[in-house]
Amino acid sequence: MTPDHPMTRSPDHPIRPGIYVHLPYCRVRCSYCTFVVSTDASSAEAYQDALLREIALLAPEAEGAPFDSVYLGGGTPSLTPAALLARLLDGMRESFDVVAGAEITLEANPEDVSPTAARDWATAGVTRVSIGVQSFDDRELAAVGRRHDAAAARRALQTVAGAGLSISGDLILGLPDQSPESFRASLGELCRSGAGHVSIYLLETDQSKTTQEDRRLHPSRYLSDDAQADLWLEMGQTLAREGFSHYEISNWARPGQQARHNLKYWKRAPTLGLGVSAHEFWGGRRRANVSALLRYVEELAAGRRPVARDAAVSREDGARERLVLGLRLSEGVPAPEVEDFVRAAGEPTLAEDYASWRDDHLLEEASGRLRFTERGFLVSNEILCRFV
Ligand SMILES: C[S@@+](CC[C@H](N)C(=O)[O-])C[C@H]1O[C@@H](n2cnc3c(N)ncnc32)[C@H](O)[C@@H]1O
Ligand code: SF4
Repeated sequence: MTPDHPMTRSPDHPIRPGIYVHLPYCRVRCSYCTFVVSTDASSAEAYQDALLREIALLAPEAEGAPFDSVYLGGGTPSLTPAALLARLLDGMRESFDVVAGAEITLEANPEDVSPTAARDWATAGVTRVSIGVQSFDDRELAAVGRRHDAAAARRALQTVAGAGLSISGDLILGLPDQSPESFRASLGELCRSGAGHVSIYLLETDQSKTTQEDRRLHPSRYLSDDAQADLWLEMGQTLAREGFSHYEISNWARPGQQARHNLKYWKRAPTLGLGVSAHEFWGGRRRANVSALLRYVEELAAGRRPVARDAAVSREDGARERLVLGLRLSEGVPAPEVEDFVRAAGEPTLAEDYASWRDDHLLEEASGRLRFTERGFLVSNEILCRFV
């Protein structure tokens, strides 16, 4: 390992670097989704070629960096034919030093999981599958346009476990037609499914016009904010009883099953980002690729990396990022760093609010570190905005 590789040295931790690859194709767009996705597969082959070109362009910059995680996210990466997936992972291993034992995660939609697919993924080098369960209630799944039912999610979880791969399962709290009982049932089922890692998201409606409109027209289909908050706190207790520890706002893991790749984002370890709209943190710079799919493909066909944003992270921004990202983790951040930040900001209202967040037990200090309490996590978005 070479933690001192000049391009990969993390400002905060000697953690090995990781690689994110965005695979944007989906069969249909789910009503709540605001990720960069495409339901037109006509460019899929050209996209694979573009990814391989981008890998080749990045190889000299990444030379000598020992990557110990790869994350294939989407979109629906499980839609990618197994042969293309193998070609992509082989291409990465040829151009980058992907170390033995690296965590290689594939996001999968339940309807794509079959014994053959799971075997092919494992053969290609995938070690971990993140399954978008969302709910085990057929009515809730249909309400947001999911292409699978609860039975398919159950089969997918069993199949992935049978192929010897680690499992993460996603659920959403706040789906239309969801009740406290149905959410509790989904959570209980996911806990018993063999998943060693779970991600539970509160339904985000800010960016999705479809969901916003539905909520406005049919408010009774949605749990109130208070009901969601109660369920969220109850869920934390259930997961703790079931042996999961809460390590990041939306993520819980059994011992040893934390997401190695995702931890890199919160700990500011270096990560490359390949593919349309992918973001990266590399050599102390934050870069983002263009989010227009055809432009991404065309630029790479012309031999250029389609970077839309590229900026060095200043010392002040680095300090801010350390707080905003580090506070997402249950381990929190060194308390003096927060105190220094609040003092240096010189804003009386921030200092007052900071004191009240502590008095109200939204933030707590333990062993010299400041972290959110479980109640604090519920309002963490509003609090973290104040540090930006
Ligand atoms: C990149 S997405 C998609 C993964 C995969 N294509 C799927 O649909 O299962 C990863 C996860 O983000 C969550 N997600 C997507 N949109 C969301 C939203 N508007 N609110 C809350 N969670 C969302 C879902 O749980 C989803 O499984
Ligand atoms: S399948 Fe996943 S990525 Fe695609 S639209 Fe649905 S939630 Fe978004």
